[in-house]
Amino acid sequence: MGRRIAFVPTMGFLHKGHASLIREAARHGDDVVLSIFVNPTQFAPGEDLEAYPRDFDGDRKVAEKAGANVIYFPDVKEMYGKNYQTFVELEKIPAHLCGLSRPVHFRGVATVVTKLFNIVKPHTAVFGQKDYQQLLLIRQMVRDLNFDIEIIGGPIVREPDGLAMSSRNTYLTPAHRRQALCLYQSLQKAGEMVSAGVRVAAEISAAAKAIIKTCPDAQIDYIALCNPETLEIISDIKGQVLMALAVKIGNTRLIDNMLLNTESGT
Ligand code: PAJ
Repeated sequence: MGRRIAFVPTMGFLHKGHASLIREAARHGDDVVLSIFVNPTQFAPGEDLEAYPRDFDGDRKVAEKAGANVIYFPDVKEMYGKNYQTFVELEKIPAHLCGLSRPVHFRGVATVVTKLFNIVKPHTAVFGQKDYQQLLLIRQMVRDLNFDIEIIGGPIVREPDGLAMSSRNTYLTPAHRRQALCLYQSLQKAGEMVSAGVRVAAEISAAAKAIIKTCPDAQIDYIALCNPETLEIISDIKGQVLMALAVKIGNTRLIDNMLLNTESGT
């Protein structure tokens, strides 16, 4: 049997969340390939493509330390040549949550991940649950298009105070960094409410909204309680439910999520 390749696709500016995926990949492969590519097709005009933080030297150190032995770092011309015209689109998953405010985003993600899979030819690929909808989309795409690749989801890595790690956290001013905690606080509150027996989704979203409203620079994109497989909005909490949030703090759009469980509370 040949060497097994485990793959972690990223857009770089690596943090401990990325490092945890690289370590997970190292458990599944002899070679761990990391890609760094800020993919223009998943950004809409007016989003942060140009501002997206980049630090190849820093990334190389994090990647090596976590166990990556190959870094694939293509440029835009290599990925999208002249006259590029093929895209991968899913029908249902992008019609929810982030897909509503970012209509071209998931088409760009599905397309670039397909291309990266064909280039890297991994046996396993690791994605973070931080981008829950993205992970669901990739799993669906792999089934639909018969990719012979095992997809693994890695847990959300957080800062000590609970903020989900993100390359975009670097955009936050100190005041915004403090307000950014409202996403995690909302999720925690939701977990507590479910543990305490609350089963009406609207009560949980209202409590989350109240927490976020205390932040002067926060603007809610969505607070959703949904079916963790279809992402359809639910009104009554039964079994496992996904709570997902997107909130802009100043100009920085942050997302976070948590699986709520009526059995254990979170
Ligand atoms: P990027 O945002 O760089 O994220 C790369 C991977 O790291 C994704 O699978 C993401 O879910 C995971 N990740 C990010 N923050 C995390 C955290 N706090 N804890 C655990 N995992 C985390 O997601 C992308 O890039 C792009 O859309 C990509 C898949 C590379 C396609 O361009």
